[in-house]
Amino acid sequence: MTKTAIYPGSFDPVTFGHLDIIERASKITDELIIGVLKNSSKTPLFSIDERVKMLKEVTKNFDNVRVESFDGLLVDFAKEKNAIMIVRGLRAVTDFEYELQLSQTNKVLNKGIDTVFLTTNLKYSYLSSSIVREIASYDGDISEFVPSLIAEKIRERIKENRDEQYSKQD
Ligand code: COA
Repeated sequence: MTKTAIYPGSFDPVTFGHLDIIERASKITDELIIGVLKNSSKTPLFSIDERVKMLKEVTKNFDNVRVESFDGLLVDFAKEKNAIMIVRGLRAVTDFEYELQLSQTNKVLNKGIDTVFLTTNLKYSYLSSSIVREIASYDGDISEFVPSLIAEKIRERIKENRDEQYSKQD
């Protein structure tokens, strides 16, 4: 039986922290599906299609990794994909409470799916997508946090957003 796992998130944008989890999770599963959440309460920098495309690009060298978007409940998506586990990264103790609640609720919703936690590499334990977006919005250097291809897309998008704002003010 193929052991399929789902690694869910917003990935707005994907960072080296996510890639570290993807690389390690891909080694302990037969197939890893990165599930990009469509409808989040967060206001995204990138559209769902852009996020999926960027993730596909940066994970193209992993043979057993696929990228898909999903809407609705994570457990329903996992069931649809015949996944037996959900992979989550734990960055610090502050993540724990939320993650525990999420995994326990998901277990109640679907008993057949377990959540597996991977501790994030210490190097990236402080990292989040919003921190990257914030640094980039002040034209800071984000090369330590995201692959160069992603850094370029972020800079482009921030410039586009700025130009749009300026044109509205005129
Ligand atoms: N490296 C770097 N950053 C990381 C990271 C890592 N290893 N792990 C998490 N992060 C960051 C993310 O980039 C994100 O940053 P942001 O808040 O600045 O955007 C932040 O930590 C939170 O990540 P995460 O908890 O994965 O949130 P998310 O919005 O990316 O994903 C879902 C949350 C998708 C898992 C959850 O909302 C979900 O399952 N939704 C579907 C509906 C559902 O089933 N709800 C659950 C019912 S109990």
